Amino acid sequence: MTLPHGFAVRRIRTEDREGVLAVLAVLSEIGNITESQFAQQVKYWDSQFLDNRTHIYHPVVITDQNGVIAAVATLFLERKLIHECGIVGHIEDVAVSKAYQGRKLGQAIIQHLTALALKCKCYKVILDCNESNVLFYEKCGYKRIGVEMERRARL
Ligand code: ACO
Repeated sequence: MTLPHGFAVRRIRTEDREGVLAVLAVLSEIGNITESQFAQQVKYWDSQFLDNRTHIYHPVVITDQNGVIAAVATLFLERKLIHECGIVGHIEDVAVSKAYQGRKLGQAIIQHLTALALKCKCYKVILDCNESNVLFYEKCGYKRIGVEMERRARL
């Protein structure tokens, strides 16, 4: 993965609440998340393991030269029965702050999480996206397959 000079990728920490929520706002409605709720969520992600040393949740950020959060995304590992109890990686909630879009941070965070998934022995990595982002993910090496369906809790 190549990042612009001064940028770095790392796991989300409890103190990242403000920056993470600001970046995720480009993706979806977030609602009110208190500091304590955010800290609990991070604590939960950090406490869940696939085996002795592999986290199930890999929520990451890219920070700029000043430590400001510029991009966010999560890899989630699912242990299955099929494919000989194989592991599937799910990439979720990818967002780059408006100020940094178009500077290859999106591509960098996808490359990082894809490499991490393969290192964790995933036999495939999947994600859902809008039609408007298909070209972006194709440029990240993903290909269109299947159809996404949903049933909302509130119809
Ligand atoms: N459509 C077509 N091409 C695109 C798009 C797009 N929507 N976005 C980026 N690209 C292209 C770029 O032009 C670039 O092409 P090049 O290599 O030929 O120059 C390449 O993809 C890499 O682009 P990046 O600079 O890495 O993209 P960016 O950092 O802006 O991140 C992202 C892309 C994540 C879609 C960002 O624009 C964003 O946060 N958008 C709003 C939130 C969103 O839609 N997130 C994805 C949700 S899907 C999910 O979470 C699984």
